[in-house]
Amino acid sequence: MKGKLTVDPSSQISKIDERIYGSFIEQLGRAVYDGIYQPGQATADKDGLRQDVIDAIKKLNVPIVRYPGGNFVSQYKWEDGIGPKEDRPKRLDLAWRSIETNEFGIHEFMNWAEKVGTKANMAVNLGTRGIMAAANLVEYCNFPGGSYWSDLRKKNGQEKPYNIKTWCLGNEMDGPWEIGQKTAYEYGHLANEAAKAMRAVDDSLELVACGSSSMDNPTFGDWERIVLDQCYDNVDYLSLHRYYGFYNDDDPTDLKNYLGKNVDLDQFIKGVVAICDAEKAKRRSDKTINLSLDEWNVWYHSNEADTKVKPWQKAPHMLEDIYNFEDALLVGSLLITLLKNSDRVKIACLAQLVNVIAPIMTTDEGVWYQSIFYPFMQVSNYGKGIALAPKVDVKTYKSREFPEVPYLDSIATYDDQNGEMTIFAENKNQTDRLEFTTELRDLKVTDVIEATQFYGYDPKQDNRDGKMKLQPLKVNMDSNQISADLQPLSWNMIRVK
Ligand code: AHR
Repeated sequence: MKGKLTVDPSSQISKIDERIYGSFIEQLGRAVYDGIYQPGQATADKDGLRQDVIDAIKKLNVPIVRYPGGNFVSQYKWEDGIGPKEDRPKRLDLAWRSIETNEFGIHEFMNWAEKVGTKANMAVNLGTRGIMAAANLVEYCNFPGGSYWSDLRKKNGQEKPYNIKTWCLGNEMDGPWEIGQKTAYEYGHLANEAAKAMRAVDDSLELVACGSSSMDNPTFGDWERIVLDQCYDNVDYLSLHRYYGFYNDDDPTDLKNYLGKNVDLDQFIKGVVAICDAEKAKRRSDKTINLSLDEWNVWYHSNEADTKVKPWQKAPHMLEDIYNFEDALLVGSLLITLLKNSDRVKIACLAQLVNVIAPIMTTDEGVWYQSIFYPFMQVSNYGKGIALAPKVDVKTYKSREFPEVPYLDSIATYDDQNGEMTIFAENKNQTDRLEFTTELRDLKVTDVIEATQFYGYDPKQDNRDGKMKLQPLKVNMDSNQISADLQPLSWNMIRVK
């Protein structure tokens, strides 16, 4: 089979906001406790932060991390997690029916974020709390001093304000599972009022309102419209969440359909963009609302095991999906979809980062990388600069849900800082190699910096044994033409300059 990618430097999607390579740490399962924070573990520092986990996260180059939830945040009292640890209350976490000791809170998270070299995307509780709790949290984190909450931060050991810029106004407020679920009107109104108060404390904040927690929710569409009608002028982004897996009547051997699920993400994003722009037109507004895909991933492997988790444990093994090779291929395609929509998706968080539906897993002894670690690492490190509009010529196939899935998924990014171009290409054909060629109009490239392929594994194989690795890919470069043979079911990256 043949497939061709044509790119033209004058045909650009957008400058890529690096925050699309964000991730997520929720106080859930073993993400925090026994994940990023494990006092006494061999690599843990004096603050209990695991250095081996920090090193692994650094490889993923994650510029922003959403915290502390997730469903957790909708019942969380942030004040429980500040001050002397011995005074912090142990609480029932009603979202996950676990015990929350509150040993880890804002200071611990921000200290960890600094060590990782990432920024916070802080979520406030608009489920069971409201306007002042959110505004007080902004004051605690961002106000320089001379007020009750900012002085308390100083007393608790943090002299300088944290200056957190990106904030989520609640989480999944449309979800029947969410503690404090609201109607679109109730939520939109509350988000607007919270936004006003938070911005009164710090007018440099960037605020994300909750969109739908899934395109499958019956309120999808109306939810976005009604919420934006309430808070358009006071927010900057609308969120969307999307997880994939073999759900309901999905046949787990139907790989053709599974690998087409990035088409669904593309439709979801474009649908939300359309609603945002309809609201803009209706208001005759100059302001554009962009998107924050602040939870996305594959999530289904652990669903059954999680029904058996004993409640009220501290840091139970929950949502510990073990990812296989086909999941890595889907994650690769989803990343390409994000880049293709980078004109409107400015923030995205792979949910999550450590142990909980995560690319990085820990044991008491060390860390291991899941299959999905590899495509994410490559795109977050090299998918930089400008996303070039791809023209892909390749045959398509029809699957159970999707009438047209291209066998080749591909995009190129151009980093104008160093003159490097990176091509990501996935061959979804299960049996045939793909003769991949490119046409780089007006883009002069002479050298291959690095080319790798990720292939050769059984779709259901996972990486518990740590044997998965990226392998070299042979690339031919002939008078500005790049060509390579892409293996069946392969994820490929070619870096040139
Ligand atoms: O990421 C796991 C959970 O998925 C989050 O807590 C919630 O927001 C979503 O439903």
